[in-house]
Amino acid sequence: MSINYKEETKIFTLETRQATYQMQIGKFGHLFHVYYGNKIGKAEVDYLVRGADAGFSGNCYEAYLEDERTYSLDEFKQEYPTFGSADFRSSCLAVEYQNGSQTTELRYKTHRIYKGKYALQGLPAMWGSEEEWETLEITLLDAHYPVEVTLLYGVLPEYDIITRAVKITNHMNDKIILNRALSTCVDLQDHAYDLLSFYGKHNMERSLMRRPICHGKQAVDSVRGTSSHQQNPFAILCDHTATEDCGNCYGFSFVYSGNFLAEVEVDQYEQTRMVMGIHPTGFRYTVESGDTFTAPEVVCAYSRDGLGTLSRNYHKAFRNHLVKSQFAKKRRPILINNWEATTFDFNEDKLLAIAKEAKELGVEMLVMDDGWFGKRNNDMSGLGDWFVNTKKLPQGVKGIAEKVNQLDMEFGIWVEPEMVNEDSDLYRTHPDWCFQIPTRKGVYSRAQLVLDMGRQEVRDYLFTAIGAVLDSANIAYVKWDMNRHLTDVWSGNLPAERQGEVYHRYVLGLYELVDRFVTKYPQILFEGCSGGGGRFDAGWLYYMPQSWCSDDTDAIERIHIQHGTSFGYPVSAMGSHVSVAPNQQTGRFTPLHTRGVVAMAGTFGYELDITHMTNEEKELVKEQIKEFKYHYDTIQYGDYYRLTNPEENNRYAAWQFVSEDKKKSLLSVVILHATANAAFLTIKAKGLQAERVYHIAELDITTTGAALMYAGIPIPREKGDYIAFNFTIEEMV
Ligand code: DGJ
Repeated sequence: MSINYKEETKIFTLETRQATYQMQIGKFGHLFHVYYGNKIGKAEVDYLVRGADAGFSGNCYEAYLEDERTYSLDEFKQEYPTFGSADFRSSCLAVEYQNGSQTTELRYKTHRIYKGKYALQGLPAMWGSEEEWETLEITLLDAHYPVEVTLLYGVLPEYDIITRAVKITNHMNDKIILNRALSTCVDLQDHAYDLLSFYGKHNMERSLMRRPICHGKQAVDSVRGTSSHQQNPFAILCDHTATEDCGNCYGFSFVYSGNFLAEVEVDQYEQTRMVMGIHPTGFRYTVESGDTFTAPEVVCAYSRDGLGTLSRNYHKAFRNHLVKSQFAKKRRPILINNWEATTFDFNEDKLLAIAKEAKELGVEMLVMDDGWFGKRNNDMSGLGDWFVNTKKLPQGVKGIAEKVNQLDMEFGIWVEPEMVNEDSDLYRTHPDWCFQIPTRKGVYSRAQLVLDMGRQEVRDYLFTAIGAVLDSANIAYVKWDMNRHLTDVWSGNLPAERQGEVYHRYVLGLYELVDRFVTKYPQILFEGCSGGGGRFDAGWLYYMPQSWCSDDTDAIERIHIQHGTSFGYPVSAMGSHVSVAPNQQTGRFTPLHTRGVVAMAGTFGYELDITHMTNEEKELVKEQIKEFKYHYDTIQYGDYYRLTNPEENNRYAAWQFVSEDKKKSLLSVVILHATANAAFLTIKAKGLQAERVYHIAELDITTTGAALMYAGIPIPREKGDYIAFNFTIEEMV
């Protein structure tokens, strides 16, 4: 049993392999947080629920009657703090009632413990069997209005995961308005933590930032309508001293692809509060009498063994219990994408020339990117018109797919369903289908407008039009792109007082549409994309097993992007390709070998005009493909170790994969800065079995796992810019 409730003490205890999570129903029915951290067995530590008779920290009415001035919601750690009563810290819930009041105070009503994992209607969430998961539902009720809040806890002991979600049900005769409905609150009893967040921009997503938290609020958020390039909906709190291998770490991953807020607050008693959920900015949701609002899931993870273990737990948990696609466990093809080779300027002959050459070298799929439909010869027109451009593809998508299949290759296409250009038949026919406020000229971004995904007719059109293309040919892969953020968010479908629902309805509509596609076409591998990695979140991962990591394909920049991404997402989710040198985004030249080494720490593929390669380069491509295939299982399903932090170490970057049985490993190194008369470089491996004997093929070294981990591996002293090494480490049999 991983969930236990003791009636005498009114304590709930949730246990995972390494962690204990404890809550208690307080004297007057409030639900207090007691403890979250390293396992403490069956011990109950409600002595940590401490209050003080402090000025300006109010007491609830019952406490006032009993003159219990130490019972204050402003001091106690809480499970789901509400706005308007005594807790002045960041709240999770702000309900507006018909009389305009905004105070809610929740008390325990009932609870339920059951085997298995709860699901959320219309929202992505982790899943699994009754043997693996247990669920706790605690229902709270407002003291004055019949508004019920059910807190959901899913416990996955094996990976030290506790998921949270919330359902808010209106039992009043009148409607209520939610001005804030966050998904989780975790109150920790001290403030000696660093906050790790993953910030960025288009072409440089998920850069790691680590900072000590301090009094007041520190926020990580997005109000761009999507999870965004700028901040990722994933954050970590860890001990100041935590490293890859030791220290307490708490992860928070939002299973949602829209606006989000992750806010850390250190309060007056130096306790730390982390709240996470849908961003309250632009959010105002009406819940009619009898209806329920569901706040999306947050996946909390704990590790006492540092950041590496935390990440590996997320990787495994997401691979096994989040990704729905059969491709989570199925070998994915090595593809070549034509975007950087041709952009919009292609036709069937050009694509087939790339495919033929690529096939010779071992590539398994051709992906036809943007430009194959409507009047799409640049980014000014065509989005929304999901019918083939026969000037480029005379025999349609079917024709080119067949020709690619005849080469014994698979074929994939690019789509951007959520968008429309003004210069398109779709816009001319349905100008009201996109976000545009009738009284003003709105914002254009990449010359495109955003379709209102909350509208059923929009989703039906997209499903039919894009579905017709998918039905017309043998399509094995779809890249689902999204190239701008949301502005002028207003829906002609909703009355004025419900416009605060549009952002969330956009995400719900999008999820419904994507779900229809992935359910109808389970054989298709879907790859997410948003101008690179602008929608790289756990919500999207539920539907699509991989997402294009970044439009920045420069190998050296990618080291930073992939490093940051790896904290919260598995390598099998990171779309990563070898592109041309000099790189199109940075102008930097890196050796082809290095580009291959970096792209192998992802889904691996190519994105360049392979017909322009020299014979020598083509031979190297052949070798790379063989090498990637050889290590495929270790890379995609093994344990991932970050051996350096590229934000700190500018001399070299290193990372390592170890198979689950610890028999095989791939250790990759890239020299970031060559120096004259360089110091000797030794890198210590991780994750091997100390007493086993391993052989490193490239160095012809045979020794124990202990030697490789504690004495280290000598890195050859070669000259040149951005040299890279792959070391194949295998157990001797
Ligand atoms: C942005 C994507 O990230 C690129 O890979 C490419 O598909 C372009 N869009 C096409 O417009």
